[in-house]
Amino acid sequence: MITTILLLSVLPLALGQGTQFQPKLGYFPATGDDTIAGGIFCISLNDLPKYTADVPAGATGTESPKGTGAVTSGSGPYPAGMMTDSSLPKHTIYAPKAPPSGNVSMPFLTWGNGACMTDGSQYRNFLTEIASHGYVIAANGPPTGSTGAQSKVQDSRDSIDWAVKGGANKYGNVDTSKIASAGHSCGGLEAMSVAYHDARVKLMMLFNIAVFMDEKRYLLQELKAPVAWFVGGPKDMGYKNAIKDYALLPIGLPAYMASLDTGHGGTFFATNGGKAGKAAVAYLQWQFRGNGTAKEICLDAKKQGSLISDKWNVTYKNWE
Ligand SMILES: *[C@@H]1O[C@H](CO)[C@@H](O)[C@H](O)[C@H]1NC(C)=O
Ligand SMILES: *[C@@H]1O[C@H](CO)[C@@H](O)[C@H](O)[C@H]1NC(C)=O
Ligand SMILES: *[C@@H]1O[C@H](CO)[C@@H](O)[C@H](O)[C@H]1NC(C)=O
Repeated sequence: MITTILLLSVLPLALGQGTQFQPKLGYFPATGDDTIAGGIFCISLNDLPKYTADVPAGATGTESPKGTGAVTSGSGPYPAGMMTDSSLPKHTIYAPKAPPSGNVSMPFLTWGNGACMTDGSQYRNFLTEIASHGYVIAANGPPTGSTGAQSKVQDSRDSIDWAVKGGANKYGNVDTSKIASAGHSCGGLEAMSVAYHDARVKLMMLFNIAVFMDEKRYLLQELKAPVAWFVGGPKDMGYKNAIKDYALLPIGLPAYMASLDTGHGGTFFATNGGKAGKAAVAYLQWQFRGNGTAKEICLDAKKQGSLISDKWNVTYKNWE
């Protein structure tokens, strides 16, 4: 009896900042935060080999880019760039270089990097492409290169708080009723964890990742915003898990899944983010701007330039 009490009181001290989230059927913590990077939907770095033995992170596919692409201002109508902003110092901003004329309203995205690294410049090609279509994005971490440090769910929440308080308005007319959380790999789980129990997040976009632990999948029942997965086929650690998560979403929740043979790495570093850049823009334009052409590109195999014609496998449910 005494030993139990001792153990319970010593454990949080040993871990430094409280205990790691322990899944228990029917137990739903108030927020998605955790002592580990990526939040309650993630696993600790130490556990990664156990879950990825058959899907090594470095595996590539027929659609993997051959090298790093050029830095551009994006292919959209509003040439965009990468910036820092002293009012959100632990982040990197991607936005049109000048506010779009005609006061075009822009949705807002929070972005989590692969491995939850705090280098906000890592996904520059991909995020600049999205921004050039009239989006403002705050990626976790300043654009200072990788230090090995990892972001936390709170970093993504800080971006949302900042935008909701008007912090992003200097980039143009930002519509904070249209907020998406998105990210790659660990950053994708971070995006799920920040969306969990936060009604401000209206869309989740999860790249090459899904919940690793079967024991944590019951948490999916608390998701309220539509979920989109962009995964890399059977060689991607996100692929099998995304199929499992897709099946376990709350009944009626809209979901989308596109899979391209790239393995875990996607196409982010290609010029304009490659096919992942095009897919992300089409999905966002459909969802946030009601663009019918973009919707057809996402869903319709017969549409010229569709994602299916780009060799994505596409599955979806609960959309009209
Ligand atoms: C831009 O649109 C927003 C929201 O519709 C509005 O509040 C703002 O006054 C507009 N600004 C200009 C310069 O028209
Ligand atoms: C696409 O679907 C086919 C048929 O299920 C499957 O064999 C293939 O691995 C899938 N490719 C990707 C990239 O998901
Ligand atoms: C709708 O999306 C398509 C494809 O991305 C794009 O070419 C077109 O300009 C968009 N239309 C509007 C009104 O934004």
